[in-house]
Amino acid sequence: MATPHIQAASGEIAKVVLMPGDPLRAKFIAETYLEDVYQFNSVRNMFGFTGTYKGTKVSVMGSGMGMPSIGIYSYELYSKYDVETIIRIGTGGAYTLDTDLFDVVLADQCYSGSSYANAAYGYTEDTMQASAGVNEALRQSAAVQGKALIEGCIHSSDVFYHGEQAAPNKVEAYHCLAVEMESFALFANAKYLGKQAACLITVSDSLVTKKETTADERQTAFTNMMEIALGAAVELSK
Ligand code: HPA
Repeated sequence: MATPHIQAASGEIAKVVLMPGDPLRAKFIAETYLEDVYQFNSVRNMFGFTGTYKGTKVSVMGSGMGMPSIGIYSYELYSKYDVETIIRIGTGGAYTLDTDLFDVVLADQCYSGSSYANAAYGYTEDTMQASAGVNEALRQSAAVQGKALIEGCIHSSDVFYHGEQAAPNKVEAYHCLAVEMESFALFANAKYLGKQAACLITVSDSLVTKKETTADERQTAFTNMMEIALGAAVELSK
């Protein structure tokens, strides 16, 4: 049953998986929010845990940074472990003054210049869509908890460091709110495999104001995003 990158046995992973980039953040979520926690993966220290949240079985696992990494883990979760839904919970850089540090962005779609979707599946489009049903569950979860969400397109980039290069023109054309590096591959895998995917981003820095957050500030702000995703996971598991 194990895959090259996940050692879990069949049945050890829930239908809904929350995926932060950082495996230590997955551990934080498991320790903070889940009961009866079982660690199902430690291959390459890409920790994965399954536990219960308000009585519902939920898993959380790190994705690593960038499309190749989340591409591998999400493909194996969907295709080998019968995972139905992956909710990425990551960080991003703000492209506009309308998104401030710590705001939580819900991606309705992402734009990317990445070759991932074409190389993997022959897809030629430069945008990939989030699953409508998962986004609706996330909206409702946020509303129930009285938490704000800013919804729009995000840019899924292959590079974090980009020299003096300006953002691609399409970033403006698609009104991208923020930049991250994983959603395009996740959404492409979900589309190909007939699965569900969504992406929440907490703004951790601004490409406009150059403001950054401290590690402590990020920890607190990210709990908002985690709680929204956990609430949606419960609804989606019903
Ligand atoms: N670029 C790409 N990914 C990111 C950034 C960024 O500026 N900030 C947080 N994730």
